[in-house]
Amino acid sequence: MTRVVPPAVVLGVSGGIAAYKAADLLRRFTESGHDVTVVPTESALAFVGAPTWAALSGKAVSTSVWDDVQQVPHVRIGQSADLVVVAPATADLLAKAAHGLADDLLTNTLLTARCPVVFAPAMHTEMWEHAATQANVATLRSRGCIVIEPAVGRLTGADSGKGRLPEPAEIYAICTRLLARGLEPDLAGRRVVVSAGGTREHLDPVRFLGNRSSGKQGYALARTAAARGAEVVLVAANTALPDPAGVKVVRVSSALELRDAVMAEALSSDAVVMCAAVADYRPVERGQTKRKKTESLNVQFVQNPDVLAELGTGRRPGQVLVGFAAETGDADGSVLEHGQAKLARKGCDLLVVNEVGDAGHPTGFEGEQNAAVVLGADGSSTEVPLGSKDALADVVWDLVAARLPAS
Ligand code: CTP
Repeated sequence: MTRVVPPAVVLGVSGGIAAYKAADLLRRFTESGHDVTVVPTESALAFVGAPTWAALSGKAVSTSVWDDVQQVPHVRIGQSADLVVVAPATADLLAKAAHGLADDLLTNTLLTARCPVVFAPAMHTEMWEHAATQANVATLRSRGCIVIEPAVGRLTGADSGKGRLPEPAEIYAICTRLLARGLEPDLAGRRVVVSAGGTREHLDPVRFLGNRSSGKQGYALARTAAARGAEVVLVAANTALPDPAGVKVVRVSSALELRDAVMAEALSSDAVVMCAAVADYRPVERGQTKRKKTESLNVQFVQNPDVLAELGTGRRPGQVLVGFAAETGDADGSVLEHGQAKLARKGCDLLVVNEVGDAGHPTGFEGEQNAAVVLGADGSSTEVPLGSKDALADVVWDLVAARLPAS
């Protein structure tokens, strides 16, 4: 019987208030079977003490190269790691890492690690935007480290801005993906637009016509493209998911708003993936006051523009266009027959066709999994078995990357 060795993760924690959120990240790793060694800095322990890290990881923690010297921890921990993630990474820690300083156990570990290294920065906006920090981040990225863009939101005090630690769930998703696929910045230097969610067409200030799209597949596309090095714009329609780390999110509601946002961003993009469920019709008039039920309900609709078809007619040379088609199959044709017809009608390069059904269907709207067949305008057909939405997203980016002109 072969014994499966759990992936060895080093969780570096530097001294910022967001250190408490690293406990959540640690929990995610240990509960999913990773072997985690926590290496805090001395100042991290001012925020969260050693007993917390030891209890949650099941291992003693040390900040110093002088403990357990006979085991040479300052070399061994880094050498045997499959992944190192530093969360939060302060401005000071990023500076030390960029310059190769090694004055404690964490900075020594960063110098001896030969595995993927992820930094999740957290600091005040001024510190993040300072030329020194930006230069350090650029240096680390040029060496192949992943430096996640900080999130925008509430900071330590009453102030808010860019510099917040990305959500632990987002950091965890980036790390587990790196453990599964390794470092693959094959979309570096590319700009991509992804639409996600479902549009809402308002009848009055209270009511709207919407659909069941959760946005999870579109967010998976945005997250995986960012992990592969792309500059990503996510046009999100009515989603309630945390912003994917390092992605520019443009929020929209109606089909017309989505169209304007996607068309504007598409002008300078190498690929556009239309994953959003866009309403085909909108009410001719949006009432300014709430409709009363004593009124008879007589609503007139007008057709919305078809964003994908519009993109397909006038796109910039070399731009790769991907559509999604959630089909059920009917008397006029099977799921795939409807998909083939739609691919031709919309003028896109790839169409991701998936079967949808009622709640409980394995590839339903709100689920965590998806399965699809990706049809290509070149006659290709790629079957993606039931798996995570990230796994389907990676296949889509593989197919897009293969169609992008050489940069
Ligand atoms: N789409 C779009 N604009 C619309 C409707 C759909 O860009 N007004 C895009 C979707 O984002 C998706 C693809 O077109 O990528 C297919 O969406 P779907 O709703 O299946 O297509 P429809 O053209 O509405 O076809 P159907 O007759 O099956 O409703």
